[in-house]
Amino acid sequence: MADLNEETLTDAVIAQMASTPDPRMREVMESLVRHLHAFARDVRLTPQEWLGAIDFLTRVGQACTPYRQEFILLSDTIGLSRLVNLMDDKANRTGEATEASLLGPFYRENAPEFGHAESMATRAKGPEMILFGRILDDEGRGVPNAVVEAWQTDADGAYDLQANDPEVMDMRGRYHTDADGHYAVRTLIPLGYSIPMDGPVGAMVRQQERHGMRPAHIHVLVAADGYRELVTALYLGHDANIDTDTVFGVSESLVVNLRENLPGSPVPSLPSVRYDFRISKRAAGDTTGRVGADPSKIAAE
Ligand SMILES: [Fe+2]
Repeated sequence: MADLNEETLTDAVIAQMASTPDPRMREVMESLVRHLHAFARDVRLTPQEWLGAIDFLTRVGQACTPYRQEFILLSDTIGLSRLVNLMDDKANRTGEATEASLLGPFYRENAPEFGHAESMATRAKGPEMILFGRILDDEGRGVPNAVVEAWQTDADGAYDLQANDPEVMDMRGRYHTDADGHYAVRTLIPLGYSIPMDGPVGAMVRQQERHGMRPAHIHVLVAADGYRELVTALYLGHDANIDTDTVFGVSESLVVNLRENLPGSPVPSLPSVRYDFRISKRAAGDTTGRVGADPSKIAAE
């Protein structure tokens, strides 16, 4: 047998994996091995460093609970979630459809249902706002009975999972559009927040001397029968960290500003944002933009 060396090892691994029957899995694993080996050669990775990395990844896994997803946070903070979303958008987003943004680690299935302009702040208190507008198709027609799911921090910058007993749901809700595609969410003005810094990903971010902050935002997931699921978020333009989001979620088209006495607001006395979300028809084989959640549990009703 030929002795393996730094140059021949990569091909030997790929040759052994060539028996993989699933062609996509074979392609992905081949590329992964090539790039991982190239990375290790590039930085001259030492055994101690690799053991340190394995220890880090182990701790990332151990930090995960039913209420906390440290791997999504890792994927977000190194820009991988955004990259996957950008590529998915490029491949599947059509026409004027709204840009995607990150699902993030705080999404929860089975959020409570609310009526038009009903407040999803059932426990938290703070300055209120209205988010309203329409869900539109590619031709600009309203999409009736679409599910608009919103979730966000309270006015102190905490998600329900952080502020309460994790069984409690607050500051999240599911709304349905009317016959013309109108939706309205009454909520609190969200506050920007630090990503969870008490785990291994937070330690990494601190070591890199990054601020770890996300600008204030409202997560929105729009689902309707026959349409591509939209996972996005709206970012409040007044936030000081709007240009330096730790998880790279902000796009210019998703930046909004609160306005007083906005025409059409269901509660004009409250600061309001009007935003029309555009969704595309679902193409065959299209996938969800969600990283980390089970799409079967959010199908439009
Ligand atoms: Fe968030």
